[in-house]
Amino acid sequence: MTVSHPHTHLADAVAPQPVSFTLNGDAKTLNVRPFRRLLDVLRTDLALPGTKEGCGEGECGACSVLIDGEPVNACLVPVIQCDGATVVTIEGLASHAALHPVQEAFVAHGGAQCGICTPGMVVTAAWMADNKMNAAAIREKLSGNICRCTGYSAIVNSVAAALGESE
Ligand code: FES
Ligand code: FES
Repeated sequence: MTVSHPHTHLADAVAPQPVSFTLNGDAKTLNVRPFRRLLDVLRTDLALPGTKEGCGEGECGACSVLIDGEPVNACLVPVIQCDGATVVTIEGLASHAALHPVQEAFVAHGGAQCGICTPGMVVTAAWMADNKMNAAAIREKLSGNICRCTGYSAIVNSVAAALGESE
């Protein structure tokens, strides 16, 4: 009889299986344990460390990525949920030659200090820009992204600049 360790997590208990998705424009098929967090698969298996872990509990937005065009917290998403989906991380926003316009705005307007929240902020802001959202919605749309450093004004100004409007 097998006695499972009391700390064995569901994520580690289920056998690996193929999971296929489009990541930053490239087709990927991984053989992974299906309930591992997308955040860990991105950072560890796929060597994409741009997506950050803050709280690990869905509260801070540092781990924001786009799944099928919508921002989600990658710390809450089992990788199996991405099967057949399109995933975009912070690494997928910039072309090889240049920063994404939202990233340029963060540089120009001082929207990044320690940088832990920045990828999630930029991913959410890029989603706003892609969907032609208005600058008036910035604080609401960024409400799931927590920053401990900036006091938010520089971030809001950065996003407003990226959206082509001033506060
Ligand atoms: S690390 Fe995912 S929401 Fe905080
Ligand atoms: S720049 Fe440090 S948490 Fe936002």
